[in-house]
Amino acid sequence: MTEQLEGILQQAQQSLVSVEQESDLQAWRIQYLGRASALSQVLDGLKELPREQRPAVGKRANEVKTALETAFAARQAELQAVLLERALERDRVDISLPGRKIPLGRLHPATQTLLEICAIWRDMGFQVYRSRDVETDAYNFELLNIPAHHPARDQWDTFYTTTPGVLLRTHTSPGQIHVMRQRAPEPIRVILPGMCYRYEQISARSEIQFNQVEGLAVGENITFADLKGTLNAFARRMFGDQVQTRFRAAHFPFTEPSAEMDIECFVCGGAGCAVCKQTGWLEILGSGMVHPSVLRNGGYDPERYSGFAFGMGPERLTMLKHRIEDIRYFWANDLRFLEQF
Ligand code: PHE
Repeated sequence: MTEQLEGILQQAQQSLVSVEQESDLQAWRIQYLGRASALSQVLDGLKELPREQRPAVGKRANEVKTALETAFAARQAELQAVLLERALERDRVDISLPGRKIPLGRLHPATQTLLEICAIWRDMGFQVYRSRDVETDAYNFELLNIPAHHPARDQWDTFYTTTPGVLLRTHTSPGQIHVMRQRAPEPIRVILPGMCYRYEQISARSEIQFNQVEGLAVGENITFADLKGTLNAFARRMFGDQVQTRFRAAHFPFTEPSAEMDIECFVCGGAGCAVCKQTGWLEILGSGMVHPSVLRNGGYDPERYSGFAFGMGPERLTMLKHRIEDIRYFWANDLRFLEQF
């Protein structure tokens, strides 16, 4: 009986060495430790043994059983470790690979300039006022002293809607009337940034959609000197303390007198180049003293009140600043262009 036990132990230990898989391991357990195993039979047969042999054989049989159970647990742990090792190897993540870049969005170059313009005017005490993109003919033209059929309308090619008298604003100037009607007779210092629309042939120089920043100051003692001083202060903030400016007589139906403001060409310093078309100057905005009829339309008595207004284009300023030669880049959504800003 004892030889039989030693035989079982040896055989079981030997065959355990070649067990490589969990399923074989379970089969091994059934074979050597199960109900029908040789070991179980020995244990069952103990009671048939002569009394004096029983303790020794029983002790050995239990030792064998414990030895096999321990061997089983050890082999199972080994197999699990191997499986884990293999899984880790198979699903390995190469942490040395460079990551994928997440593209970062940023503000459009025209928006950047628009915000810069707004910040400068804010510092000078101008509030931001927004008014609508869809306007009436009255606000966009008539109340600004541009009657129907007036040749001045040619300056603003217009997108009309199917509703008579409703159009897309061609400039931010209709906002002047909105502010005045809301504030009269209080003094006004506002800027009006916003999108404008013109029914134009798209080319390197003109787009059908662009931003403007309008400005309006109304009060009891506002003069042309205020207009010049304020716009000069703006130009110095925008283009640097050394910038030279000049005002040229111009014409807008809603201002009288009207002036366009130029800054000295920062590309050639005034000597003349392709950017300034050999003039040495770059036009940056239109301006003027608010026309008496416009003041009246806004609810201000022109005998008592006066004001100045101006309008500038962030896209145009951005083009000058970065020497962009084609305005179509602003709407082309070409990342190679946009990423430069
Ligand atoms: N609205 C004018 C334009 O679109 C610009 C301007 C605004 C001129 C205010 C004078 C005063 O060209």
